[in-house]
Amino acid sequence: MMFDRKSSAKILYSALTVILCALVMLQCTTEKTDNNGSASQQELKKAKENTPELAVAMGQLQTYHHKFALAVEAKNYQLANFYLHEVEAAADGIKENIPSYEGYDIRKFMKIMFDSDVEPLETALANKNWDKVRQKTIDLTNSCNSCHNATAHGFVKITPGFDNNPFNQDFSVSE
Ligand code: HEC
Repeated sequence: MMFDRKSSAKILYSALTVILCALVMLQCTTEKTDNNGSASQQELKKAKENTPELAVAMGQLQTYHHKFALAVEAKNYQLANFYLHEVEAAADGIKENIPSYEGYDIRKFMKIMFDSDVEPLETALANKNWDKVRQKTIDLTNSCNSCHNATAHGFVKITPGFDNNPFNQDFSVSE
């Protein structure tokens, strides 16, 4: 059976409409996928923002560690005691909030290399045995560097910094 010109045109229009609809639907689906894609990317970004940066936490640990050493240098028990607690709180925060980093078990390293050196330091300070406090502060500093070596950051070398005060703060015991 042959189509006349009129029905041929009708068939062509119908075909074009179907193709157009298909295109519109495809476009919508693509947009939807795009939206989903960017949504999960946003979530990823947010998750990253919520994860504290280890370097920032380390910087805080370093500040308290150094201020502690300066208070030890000044034999200022009250101030040294305050900063040792801040050092411990910063370390606890790292264990809790950044338990792993770049595939390293930070929490475990912190327990093995750091906690074991903090406890004897606490005891020495409680006894105001300043010679021992100094020695244990050096041990703790070595543990910072041991962990840096163990986590491919050996180039971050920490020193006790006993006699090196860069802060606008007086560490001496008040009269
Ligand atoms: C559990 C292992 C571990 C211990 C213990 C540790 N660190 Fe770190 N530290 C790291 C890692 C890993 C980095 C690198 C972080 C990064 O790449 O963002 C780092 C980076 C740093 C940095 C560079 C960031 C900055 O602000 O300049 C400093 C400083 C630092 N640590 C100080 C210390 C001090 C001080 C101690 C001891 C009181 C210490 N760290 C103990 C693992 C450790």
